Amino acid sequence: MIGEVGPEAIDGIMEVMEQAFDGGFGEAWNRGQCLGILGLPGVWMTLERDDDGARGFALARVTLDEAELLLIAVKPAFRGQGVGARLLDEVIRSAARRGASRIHLEVRDGNDALRLYSSSGFQQVGRRRGYYTGSHGQTYDALTLMRSTNDPGGPKRDNGQGCV
Ligand SMILES: CC(C)(COP(=O)(O)OP(=O)(O)OC[C@H]1O[C@@H](n2cnc3c(N)ncnc32)[C@H](O)[C@@H]1OP(=O)(O)O)[C@@H](O)C(=O)NCCC(=O)NCCS
Repeated sequence: MIGEVGPEAIDGIMEVMEQAFDGGFGEAWNRGQCLGILGLPGVWMTLERDDDGARGFALARVTLDEAELLLIAVKPAFRGQGVGARLLDEVIRSAARRGASRIHLEVRDGNDALRLYSSSGFQQVGRRRGYYTGSHGQTYDALTLMRSTNDPGGPKRDNGQGCV
């Protein structure tokens, strides 16, 4: 099942958060940060779960005609099965429904998620040098990626698969 959820789903979201992010980059959010942002206008959470619990989530927000993907994460046990792509497609559809004509995100250069984003049709529109610092002091550029909210499946997903 995939769909929008509210603060009542926080336990499942935190389960994914704790498993999904590499501790070396400080990218995971804590419970308070998640609950805080979920109370803000224009912010929504999409969750994929099965009978056993959460598999992955995506957090996004819309401001006027532009959306931002804030976080996307899938439990390691469910990776490589299309969960991330389904979440991303669903976020793009929801962003369009909310009036956004485009969606952007920021990602650490070298993150595996870049493959997911480029498959979905995101293109690089900016680079901030040395924006992220790893736990051993090494720095990484932040890339800003953008795509239109038309055609959520993106250029490579034209087979009708995807969410819902
Ligand atoms: C990024 C992430 C959400 C992808 O989730 P996923 O469910 O494994 O993704 P999918 O199975 O839908 O894969 C989508 C595409 O990305 C590719 N991909 C996903 N993870 C990959 C990896 N670790 N290495 C290489 N390619 C990868 C898939 O091959 C697929 O490409 P294709 O469409 O060309 O076949 C997941 O790896 C994750 O939770 N990472 C840690 C959290 C994170 O860094 N989030 C991003 C920043 S907020």
